[in-house]
Amino acid sequence: MWSQQQLAQYHNDGFLACPGLFNTDELAPLNSIADEYCQHYRDHEALSGDDDKRVHWIRERSGAVRSLFAMHRQVEPYRQLLRSPKIAGPMKQIFAADGYVYHSKLNVKDAFEGAVWLWHQDYGYWQHDGVDDRMSSVLVMLDDTTIHGGCLLMVPGSHRWDMLDHHSDEKTTNYKQWCVTTDALHANLRDDSQIVPVTGKAGDVWFFDCRVLHGSGHNLSPNQRKSLIFACAHIDNRPKPVANPRPDWVVDQEFEPFTTEIKLT
Ligand code: SIN
Ligand code: MN
Repeated sequence: MWSQQQLAQYHNDGFLACPGLFNTDELAPLNSIADEYCQHYRDHEALSGDDDKRVHWIRERSGAVRSLFAMHRQVEPYRQLLRSPKIAGPMKQIFAADGYVYHSKLNVKDAFEGAVWLWHQDYGYWQHDGVDDRMSSVLVMLDDTTIHGGCLLMVPGSHRWDMLDHHSDEKTTNYKQWCVTTDALHANLRDDSQIVPVTGKAGDVWFFDCRVLHGSGHNLSPNQRKSLIFACAHIDNRPKPVANPRPDWVVDQEFEPFTTEIKLT
C-alpha cells in the first residue's frame, strides 16, 4: 500500500513511479507467454483481429505485433498480476473504492520496429465511451525501458488541464490513433522541460491518471520494449450507452472488481 505522501504525489503529478515491484521470477511467465503470442501473430495475414481466446492483436506495418489486448481475461498469470496487492492496493487507494479493468493491453515495441504513440490523454478516447474520468492506469515494464527504446513520455500536472482537442490520425501508424491536435500541443506543451521520460527496469511499475498527457517515440534501440497496461475504472463508473459503442476487447463489459481482497484502513 502507498503512504499518504505517495498518494499525494500521485494526485499532484498525475502519476507515480514505483521501482522494483516485480522480480525476474515473477515476470518470467508473463514474458514467455508474450513471446509465444508475438511469434504466433507476427506476419499474420490480417493486420488485426481476434482469436478464439478473445485476445485481440494489432500489428505494425512491418509485421511485428504492436499490441495484444485483454490478456488479463484469458491468461492466468496476467489475471493474477492484476490482483497482486502491489497493483490492486494502490488502485483501491486511488479510487478510495473498488475498481474493475476497463481494458488492458500489452504494448510490444520490437527492436527497430516498434512505432510511435502520438501525444494523447487516455480520457480523450474514453470520454466518448460513456464513462467519467474516475480512471487510472498501471503500467508494468516487462523489459528494461530506455529513452532510445521509445519509452513513454509524460507531462506532470497535465491531468489538471482541460481536456485537449483530439483528432483521429490514420496515417502515422497501422493503427488509428486518437491524438492531440498540433494546435493544442503548441498551445499547451511549450517547453521541453515539461516532459518526463518513463524509463526504468523490468519490474518497475508506474501508475497514471487518465487525463495525463503522454506519448512515445519509435523504438530505435536493438532491444524489445514491452509494457503491460491495465486501464482501470472506479467500480461505479460503468460506461453509459453511447451512439457508437466500441468492441469489448477495448471497453470491457465484465466489471468484475479485482480489488476486493484489499482492505483500506
Ligand atoms: C499508450 O499510451 O497506450 C501506450 C503508449 C506506449 O506504450 O508507449
Ligand atoms: Mn495512452
